Amino acid sequence: MTHDPRPLALVAGGSGGIGAAICRALAAEGHDIALTYRGNQARAAQVVADCRALGADARADAVDLTDAAALRAHVDLLAHHAPLRSVVYAAGPKLSFGYTSRIAPDEWLRVMLADTGGCFNLIHACVPHLKAAGGGSLVALITAAVERVPSQDVLSSAPKAAIEQLMRGIAKEEGRFGIRANCVGPGFILAGMTEDMFGREGLGDFQESIRRSLPLKRFGRAEEVADCVAFLCSDRAAYITGQSIAVDGGLQL
Ligand SMILES: NC(=O)c1ccc[n+]([C@@H]2O[C@H](COP(=O)([O-])OP(=O)(O)OC[C@H]3O[C@@H](n4cnc5c(N)ncnc54)[C@H](OP(=O)(O)O)[C@@H]3O)[C@@H](O)[C@H]2O)c1
Repeated sequence: MTHDPRPLALVAGGSGGIGAAICRALAAEGHDIALTYRGNQARAAQVVADCRALGADARADAVDLTDAAALRAHVDLLAHHAPLRSVVYAAGPKLSFGYTSRIAPDEWLRVMLADTGGCFNLIHACVPHLKAAGGGSLVALITAAVERVPSQDVLSSAPKAAIEQLMRGIAKEEGRFGIRANCVGPGFILAGMTEDMFGREGLGDFQESIRRSLPLKRFGRAEEVADCVAFLCSDRAAYITGQSIAVDGGLQL
C-alpha cells in the first residue's frame, strides 16, 4: 500500500517566538516542516525536535532572507525533494520603537529592506514551485497595527502594510493557479519580540495600561496566532484569499 506524502510547509523565521509555534501547529496538522532561521541555531534545533515528536519530518536551515540568490537556491533544493504546499513568512528584523521624525534614514532603509525585501524574496522564490505543484497557500505575518497605527510604531507597521499589499497582489494574480495568499496580524503576543521588549522594560504600569485597553483584557499567545495560520494553510480555508485576519484580542477596534 502506498501513502500520499505529507505536504511540505516552509516556515521562514521558524526559530522565532511565533514562528516556532507555527511550525508545531503545522506539524500537528500533518505537514512536514522546513524552517529557516538566521542565527539562532539552538532554538531552530529545538523546534525541529518538537516537530519530529509530533510525527513530522523536519529540518532547519540558516538562510538570510535578504540574500535573494541564496534563498532561491534553498527553495529550489527543498522543492526538488518534495512538493511545496504551504509557505509562511514569520520572520522580521529586530527594531526599536520611536517617533517617526527621529528615525535615522539608514535605519528606515535597513528595516524596510529586511522585512518587506525579505518577504518579497521568499514569495518570489516560492511562487513558481507552488504553481508547479498545482497551487498552495502563502501566509505572511504582518501586524494588527496596519489598521490602527500606534504612536512610535511606524518601523513595525510600515513594512507590514507593504507586505499586506504584496500578498493581496499575489492573491489577485496567482489565484488562477490555485495559489491563495493571506495575512495574519498579531497584536500584543507574549512571545518573540514583544516578550523581549516587555522583558527589557519589566512588566509594569506601561504593560498593564496596554492590557487594560484591550477588549479581551489579556495579551495573546503564540499558539493563538499559529492556529490562525494553520487554518489558512488548510483546506478549511480553500475559498479564502487576499484577506488579513487580526489575532489581537480586539486591539484594532
Ligand atoms: N511578537 C509580537 O507580539 C508581534 C506583534 C506584531 C507583529 N509581529 C510580527 O510577527 C513576526 C514574528 O515575530 P516574533 O515575535 O516571533 O519575532 P522573533 O522572535 O524576533 O523572530 C524573528 C524571526 O525572524 C528571523 N529573522 C530575522 N531577520 C532575518 C533575516 N534577515 N533572514 C532570515 N531570518 C531572519 C529570526 O531568526 P534568528 O532568531 O534565528 O536570527 C527569527 O526566526 C515578525 O514579522 C513580527 O514583526 C510580532
